[in-house]
This record gives sequence, C-alpha cells and structure tokens, in this order.
Amino acid sequence: MALTGLFLCLFLVGHLLGNLQMIFQTGEEGKRIFNEYAYFMTHNPAVKVLSYLTYFSILFHAADGIVLLVQNRRARPVKYAYSKPSANSSWTSRYMALLGTLVLVFIATHMSNFWWKMKYTTEVPLHSYYSETSQDTLYLTHKGEQITTAQLRMIGDTEGTQIIMRADKMNQSIEKEYNSYISENVLSEEQLLAFEEAKNKQIRKKDEVLGEGYKDLHTVVLQYFSKGNTTESGIPVGLLGTLFYVISMSVLAFHLWHGFSSAFQSLGLNHPKYTPLISIFGRGFAIVVPLLFAIIPVIIYINS
Ligand code: HEM
Repeated sequence: MALTGLFLCLFLVGHLLGNLQMIFQTGEEGKRIFNEYAYFMTHNPAVKVLSYLTYFSILFHAADGIVLLVQNRRARPVKYAYSKPSANSSWTSRYMALLGTLVLVFIATHMSNFWWKMKYTTEVPLHSYYSETSQDTLYLTHKGEQITTAQLRMIGDTEGTQIIMRADKMNQSIEKEYNSYISENVLSEEQLLAFEEAKNKQIRKKDEVLGEGYKDLHTVVLQYFSKGNTTESGIPVGLLGTLFYVISMSVLAFHLWHGFSSAFQSLGLNHPKYTPLISIFGRGFAIVVPLLFAIIPVIIYINS
C-alpha cells in the first residue's frame, strides 16, 4: 500500500503540473499547448507504461485497503469495552478507508468525464490546426491517404491524421530565397560556400510530418467547468461539477494528511531526524497539491 500510495503521489505531481497549464496558458496558444501535451501523454510509449502503472496502483491500493480493513475487523471481533481512539490516533488516520473510498469515487467519475471520452469516444471535438494559406506546401493525410480539409471536416476525427510538409515545394522556395540573396549581395568565395552549406542543410530529402491530429481535450475541460454547462431543464452541471471537484480535493487532502507520512512508517523508514521532516513535508504536500488542483476548475468556472 505504501509503495503504490507514494507512486500515486508522484502521479499527482505530474498530473497537477500538466493541468496547471490550463490556467497559466490561455487563449489559442494555451489550447494548442494543452492539446499537444494531452496527445503526447496518450501516445508516448514511455508515458503509456506509467499510465498502466497508475491504473494498477489505484486498483491495488484500493483492493489492499479493503483487505486490511477486513483483517483489522477480524482481528478484533469483540469491540473494546472502553474506547477513546482520539487519545492515541488522529481523526484522519481512523477514517482512511472512508476517505480513500471517496477519492476512488472521485477518480471513477473524473475518468469517465475526461479520460474515457478522450480514449474511447468520438465525442471530443477536434483541434483545427490547418492553415488554409499554406495549402501549397502542406497537405493532409488520414490513415495514410491524402485528403482535403473539407474531407477532414466530414470525417470529423483527426486521430490518425497527419499534416505533412511537401519537400519539393519547400526546396523550391529555399532555392528561390537563396538565389535572390546571392544575386542581390556581393559575397566572397568563402561566404558563398558557407551560404551554400547552410542552404543544403535546409533542403529536405523527403516530405516531413509537422503534426499529428489530436483531440481538443482543452475545450472539453473548459466547457465542463463553465457557467453555460447546464442541462435542458436548467441544472447547473458546470457549477455542480466545480463544487464536486473542490469537495473531492478536500477529501484528498485529508487522505494525504495521514497517508503521506504513514507510507514511510509502513516501509520501516523511521529516523529520529528525518521522520519529523517527512511528516512536515507530507502535511505541506497534503495541503498544497489538492489546493492547486481545486483552484483549476474554480478559475475556469469564474472566467467562463
Ligand atoms: C482540477 C483537477 C483535474 C483536472 C482538470 C484533471 C484533468 C484530467 C484530464 C483532462 C484527463 C484525461 C487525460 C488524458 O486522457 O490524456 C485526466 C486523467 C486522469 N486523471 Fe485527472 N484531472 C484533475 C485532477 C485529478 C486528481 C486529483 C486525480 C487523482 C486523485 C486525477 C486522476 C486522473 C487519472 C488516474 C487519469 C488517467 C491518467 C492516465 O490515463 O494516465 N485527476 N485528468
């Protein structure tokens, strides 16, 4: 439990840094950066391994928690005649199973909102990156076949789409620029050679993939936490979703408050000097990480 718990803490830091991009980078640029990041996170083989490790850790951590709870109950079938748990244990430590279950409910809801949509549905709209003005040097392919922008809109799914730079057209424009420069400037033999070398470096041997189609997860997240996200009958889904995230993050904070330092104790890492430091760091972690997670939907909601 301790090892999976600590690994999940690392996941939280990575996930938080990725998500904070949503509030620090705004506008079209922010949208592009976040969507490219989400694309990388779902397609890079090394990240995929980490993702599977995360899913495994969540399931193992939860299952092991249940096993421990059952074992503890079995170990003491008859309750203490006199029990005052607050005398030697904190509130959070006694409710770890409940807090953990609530975090699990949050994760399941959260993953069905974003992760499931991203991975298994075509509900996520597409990020359009195609510039009409560069049609001469760029072309699009979908699953290997060349297509037009209009066809791409009809397909409605950029997954498997590539934006490709045409080598011959690019080389033509490089040659043109080079020729006009040397005809307009008086250059020494040496400068000409250096210039020729620089030009040859720019010359493309084959068409180049400039970008891959990706889903617009940024818009999905922003719309989810927006004031305008209401059902037909007027239920404010955006507001309720934001509140749900804020409440869930306080539950996560309580879970981490005890969990972080307790993981080190479970691993037997007790040290007169370092244990108090770990405990202070753990408490800081339990406050800062959930707090930063919680402000993301709040800011998105306020700005919507
Ligand atoms: C404001 C808070 C958060 C936002 C905006 C957010 C956003 C997202 C988004 C957009 C995805 C889908 C990414 C993808 O499939 O590429 C995702 C995945 C995920 N989120 Fe969050 N998240 C937040 C907080 C959390 C928290 C607190 C946890 C855990 C307690 C969590 C656990 C996960 C997990 C396990 C995945 C799947 C990751 C993977 O496939 O590798 N998220 N999140």
